[in-house]
Amino acid sequence: MKKYKTILSAFHTIYRLTTTSPDITNFISGVCRVYKNAFRTDKVVMVCKNLDGYGFIKIRLEDKKQYLKKGGISILTRRERDILKQEKEIFLDNRLVYPFIFSDTLGAVYIKRRPRRGAGFNDLERKWFLSICEEVSVGLKIFGLYRDAKRTMINYIKSFTKLLDQYVPTSYIHTKSIFRLIRTVGKEMELSEAEIKSLEYASLLHDAGKIQLPSRILKKQKPLTDEEYRLIMKHPRKGVELIKDLEILKPAIPIILHHHERYDGTGYPSRLKKEEIPLGARILAVLDAFDAMFFGRPYRKRRYLEDIEKEFQQQIGKQFDPKVVGVLLKVLKRKAVRKYLHSFL
Ligand SMILES: [Fe+2]
Repeated sequence: MKKYKTILSAFHTIYRLTTTSPDITNFISGVCRVYKNAFRTDKVVMVCKNLDGYGFIKIRLEDKKQYLKKGGISILTRRERDILKQEKEIFLDNRLVYPFIFSDTLGAVYIKRRPRRGAGFNDLERKWFLSICEEVSVGLKIFGLYRDAKRTMINYIKSFTKLLDQYVPTSYIHTKSIFRLIRTVGKEMELSEAEIKSLEYASLLHDAGKIQLPSRILKKQKPLTDEEYRLIMKHPRKGVELIKDLEILKPAIPIILHHHERYDGTGYPSRLKKEEIPLGARILAVLDAFDAMFFGRPYRKRRYLEDIEKEFQQQIGKQFDPKVVGVLLKVLKRKAVRKYLHSFL
């Protein structure tokens, strides 16, 4: 009875991993643990096409340790390459191998119990192993399809932001460099991969709402009238209106909506202050300001790093979250980051 429960929970866990894992590595790592627990294995090896990048991912679970490798075909042993090529399951007394096939080979798994008395897998366990492997194959396929849909969506977003840049010159943002800063600052602040992704989407789309404002206001070189400024203040809400039905962008909504809030509570649209402002919005506010100062804008000259650092120091606690500014300034001290940023100038 206990064994049935374990297997049932294994099925449920794989379903949950398929729907909630932020990336393929996370999914495979979770699946390996399922095999280990459900079949009391001494060793689990899973190899898969890297659906998030190129080449392969290999995870080995052995003696409570997890080993991860990513790279080209060279990370696979000859035996692993053969298993992928032969597309055939192998059932030995204490070793089971299954290639994940769904129109083409997506990967394979190998589980093993060390030879000892009664260590072999029985018939029922082999059947369960097959069923679980079939579910993992479906999971991998879904992951691939989801990845394709996500790529299409990102391409749409990029085309849309190009259009936006033509219409709204002030929204111009350096995608590549801000993505790198988002990742570096995000990791330093211990954000999850999903939170980092949402910040990337928000950085592309935070000013999308401006597309609904009269271009004469956006291109105006003289100071804005109160009436014009009131219109500008509507762009975060208008931006959210544009994207709110796209599932993949939902986590980016609070970031887009609140990217003009100020830490001291004098921003817009909701006059939120301090930690009331979503963390993503506090980060984007700092990085967007950095981008504008470092690269300049059509109406504003670029500034030197030392000058930018002083400006941020002055705005700590007023416009910006001190913690985020602290992390950015720390990150900017790194030689590699400075070199990368200067490579765009
Ligand atoms: Fe904005």
